Amino acid sequence: MQRVEKEIQRLITECDYDEVTRLFNMLSGGKRLRAKLILKIAAEHKDAPLLAAIVELIHAASLLHDDVIDEADTRRGMASVNATDGSKTAVMLGDILYSKAFTELVAFDKDVAQTIAASVTALSKGEMMDVKMAEEFNVDEEKYLDMLYLKTATLIEAAAKAAALLVAKDAEAHALYGRNLGLSFQIIDDILDITADEESLGKPAMNDFVEGKCTLPYIYLYELLSDDEKERLLSSHAKKIDKSETQWIQDKMSEYKTIEKSFAVAQKLSDEAKEALSNDEDLVNILDTMIKRSY
Ligand code: FPP
Ligand code: MG
Repeated sequence: MQRVEKEIQRLITECDYDEVTRLFNMLSGGKRLRAKLILKIAAEHKDAPLLAAIVELIHAASLLHDDVIDEADTRRGMASVNATDGSKTAVMLGDILYSKAFTELVAFDKDVAQTIAASVTALSKGEMMDVKMAEEFNVDEEKYLDMLYLKTATLIEAAAKAAALLVAKDAEAHALYGRNLGLSFQIIDDILDITADEESLGKPAMNDFVEGKCTLPYIYLYELLSDDEKERLLSSHAKKIDKSETQWIQDKMSEYKTIEKSFAVAQKLSDEAKEALSNDEDLVNILDTMIKRSY
């Protein structure tokens, strides 16, 4: 991973603007999941660290923009760029990282470049759907999973597929692995928003619902509640709610086992991904570690 960090720093230095370097170095790098995947899949390829750096810059850009869109003050437990330097700066920094990544991407083979580029269009569509869906209480599971696929799984899918293309491995099997890893990763994230505390989340707990996002545990809960209870849940949607209301939601979720139900969906996706690449021990381990985050 050191080679990826070196590539990232090189690309940032090449932007040739102190302010970009200063702001970028204030960001937390996060888990670098996408970069790790690329390195694992295309370990022997000389350009794997560069491809990994490109994908991480795109991911960082998307989060900068997402925090502006969500008006989020924190990111990974630290103040967001929009909070410290304003939304204009956050958008422009995102633009610079994104376009620098694409400048580097065009030097790759067409199939690799197109795989990554197309995923960014999907990512952006997913973000738009997410914002639209948060305007009302969405109870459609399929619609939710479609949005989730676009917003969070496509870049992971593209990273795995592009890395496979680099070293002539089975592109479709790796794409399926990446897609299911991304989806189950996000479903676990949605669960943790409800079950984990503020300190480990680096953001307020049960924030998704406050932001209007009806994740799987809420969708399943709504299906099972009585009419009166449905009304009560609806009236809490997309607003700051007090402790007794969050407690009521959590109690109902445990009564109707909607966390377990959501976890089962993540588990199934993860099992399918394992099946697609069962002979790759490292990739199977990544899935196991990710699934274990939840408890
Ligand atoms: C986080 O979702 C958001 C994303 C993973 C994708 C955001 C995509 C864009 C803003 C469009 C692409 C833009 C560029 C420049 C490439 P979340 O808000 O549910 O998660 P969070 O809790 O991490 O904020
Ligand atoms: Mg967000």
